[in-house]
Amino acid sequence: MSISSQKKRITVPKLRARKGGEPIVSLTAYTAPMAGFLDPYTDVFIVGDSLGMVLYGYDSTLNVSLEMMIAHGAAVVRGSETACVTVDMPFGSYQESPEQAFRNGARLMQESGCGAVKLEGGIEMAETVSFLTDRGIPVMGHVGLMPQSVNRLGGYQVRGREREEGSAIVSDARAIAEAGAFSVVIEGVVPSVASHVTHSVSVPTIGIGASAECDGQVLVTEDMIGMFNDYTPTFVKRYAELGAEVQKAAAAYASDVKARRFPGPEQVFKEKINVKHKQVKII
Ligand code: KIV
Repeated sequence: MSISSQKKRITVPKLRARKGGEPIVSLTAYTAPMAGFLDPYTDVFIVGDSLGMVLYGYDSTLNVSLEMMIAHGAAVVRGSETACVTVDMPFGSYQESPEQAFRNGARLMQESGCGAVKLEGGIEMAETVSFLTDRGIPVMGHVGLMPQSVNRLGGYQVRGREREEGSAIVSDARAIAEAGAFSVVIEGVVPSVASHVTHSVSVPTIGIGASAECDGQVLVTEDMIGMFNDYTPTFVKRYAELGAEVQKAAAAYASDVKARRFPGPEQVFKEKINVKHKQVKII
């Protein structure tokens, strides 16, 4: 990545300054071509560890490794020009200590070229957030429904319906914002909690399944374009049905191959006839 390409990107301070202003548009991206398609419309890419489920077919995000996040983060950086690229720190790469988090966060930034990292957690991660930001690693927080804690939480249910749990989410968001996070993802909470968090922190909140009360929104791109199969969560709006389009294309291709309609005359190389020696040359 050249200095000039880095200069065109939306910076972390610019995103932070969007608190209460123009809503932040965020999407997930895992690959270079998808990043290229989405880049003109996106302020911040989250290279989410959801890629473990969406791309690799795991049933949770817990199997995702640092190496996977580095490879996909680097692909998204290569495929985009202007969006800020934020890469998820995977399960087990930061919870042990601030030092472990710094070591792995630095690797993520050095080897992928991303502009920031994201990690899940509230009060218990505040010390780590401050350790990283003080040392040059911008951190996006993530509170509410935290998929890396699926085994502790017992599933992916909406959070904050009980008053006590709602207050705990607000305290979590406050703690990491005060520790230096430049923005906070709020996932899977009722609107009153999203609103309370958004009004309680000085940095932008980015909601996913958290209502329009947030300073920005993120969706998993494959959900948004209808590429992630059977189940569509309540909070997802499908803006396209590309899964169905892919199936239609595959069915048409299969039928052409079986009927010997593909390849047709337009898809074959022209032959060059050497009249003198009556030889056929492939060009
Ligand atoms: O992993 C993920 O896709 C996320 C979303 C909140 C963007 O963390």
